[in-house]
Amino acid sequence: MTNELKAVPRHVAIVMDGNGRWAKKRFLPRFFGHKAGVDVLVKVVQACIDRNIEHLTVFAFSSENWKRPSDEVSGLMGLVLAAVSRYLARMGSMGVRIRIVGDREAVSAKLRNAWNEAESATCHNTKLTLSVAFNYGGRWDIVQACKAAMLAGVPPDQLTEAKLSEFMAMSYAPDPDLFIRTGGEVRISNFMLWQVAYTEFVFSDCLWPEFGEAQLDAAIQAYRDRDRRFGGVKAAPAVVAA
Ligand code: IPE
Ligand code: IPE
Ligand code: MG
Repeated sequence: MTNELKAVPRHVAIVMDGNGRWAKKRFLPRFFGHKAGVDVLVKVVQACIDRNIEHLTVFAFSSENWKRPSDEVSGLMGLVLAAVSRYLARMGSMGVRIRIVGDREAVSAKLRNAWNEAESATCHNTKLTLSVAFNYGGRWDIVQACKAAMLAGVPPDQLTEAKLSEFMAMSYAPDPDLFIRTGGEVRISNFMLWQVAYTEFVFSDCLWPEFGEAQLDAAIQAYRDRDRRFGGVKAAPAVVAA
């Protein structure tokens, strides 16, 4: 891959982790960490637009996050509803297309309606696609894609990697170039398992509510410094004849 192609990752995926610890450090309930996290996301969306990133995918609620205390779960659901009504118009004027990825069955009808409204109100925007992974799990995605392929009648001998990709929840986006996880944990936690096969990983100790342009630029610089070989070998420097 040439340096120009590598200069800007087309697709950045972020595990926005560390909200609870950020709040705890300030002797606040965890909810306040999530609230601060939403405001940071809006700023990071703008920073991605400024850097010509086409796709930003953020992990907002995992299929495993239902294990949290019910008051935290209901607080998060309320926060997302409030965030849609607070920020939808601004996202629209920023040229952001919002897409939700995840299992919508388990969320309330109210939240489903808010998702639908956010998606349809922004469906013609082209500056950046913000995919919000909500009630999402990488394993869920692979299983739902297999089911959808079966229902579509794809015969086993025609089920290639490319074919199955067409049924994944984010078939509209290229695989992420850069994966960032804040909060200091060095794991994927069931995010985009299929799509990160050749993604570059950056793990940051920064807690999500403290994330900003400096941390984003540091991650992009780390990405630029990587040698992406995709299983091949590094291109040999051109030999100049004597
Ligand atoms: C990530 O922050 C946000 C969600 C999972 C919804 P956490 O809530 O996991 O914060 P920590 O990891 O406990 O600090
Ligand atoms: C991953 O963070 C999920 C989101 C950021 C939405 P978690 O805090 O849930 O992950 P674990 O429990 O540390 O693996
Ligand atoms: Mg966490």
